[in-house]
Amino acid sequence: MRKRIVAGNWKMNKTPSEAKALASELLSLIKHREDVEVVFCVPYVDIAPVFEVIQNTTISLGAQNLYLEESGAYTGEISPSMIRESGCTHVIIGHSERRAYFGETDEIVNAKVKKAFEHDLIPIICVGETLTQREQGITKELVRLQTKVALLDISPEKASLAVIAYEPIWAIGTGHTATNEQAEEVCAWIREVLFEMYGKEVSERIRIQYGGSVNASNAEALFSMPNIDGGLVGGASLKADFSVITNAK
Ligand code: PGA
Repeated sequence: MRKRIVAGNWKMNKTPSEAKALASELLSLIKHREDVEVVFCVPYVDIAPVFEVIQNTTISLGAQNLYLEESGAYTGEISPSMIRESGCTHVIIGHSERRAYFGETDEIVNAKVKKAFEHDLIPIICVGETLTQREQGITKELVRLQTKVALLDISPEKASLAVIAYEPIWAIGTGHTATNEQAEEVCAWIREVLFEMYGKEVSERIRIQYGGSVNASNAEALFSMPNIDGGLVGGASLKADFSVITNAK
């Protein structure tokens, strides 16, 4: 049985004091469950303050990006060891917003996934198509390529710890959630790609999330699909409602 993983992607929201308040509020509402892992992926400056709130609880902390180098003259960047030492265990890699606004390619995503593993950070690797790509009928080819390149030269042992987030770009922040069937179809396809790469055991261990307008009313149905092992939640992770998503049956 794969353990469900529900991660909140706070994006560029919440100052340190607001972040602490939100984390405390959510902490009081989120039920501790053996079968669900909950992660708050917060802006860099919120990592330390939120860590103070969630340390010694079952909630995990994640960053939303990392830089490829260990240290040095990279003004404005944050290294994997800085993230790890500040209390993160997870990191989102290759979110579509980073791909679109900051030029992250599949090759950069692969390099960042390697760095994450070198520092014992679990990568939440984002893949997904635009509306045009879906209309062109290339969703599966594209997602296959994104998944394969992201995991290039990653050992089966490491890959089995990775999380893949299938996030159709047309569903992100739009309120147009993919139907359960659309989401399941692509998540099942990703598992087939993982099977092709790593075989049955590893492909059945890797957790695949759906992301894109997940909310308190659609989470339960999405998470009940056979190949959807949780969600990456943006907008709805900034409200008390996030607990309804983490507590979903
Ligand atoms: P959304 O964002 O839930 O606001 O659609 C999801 C994401 O971008 O990870």
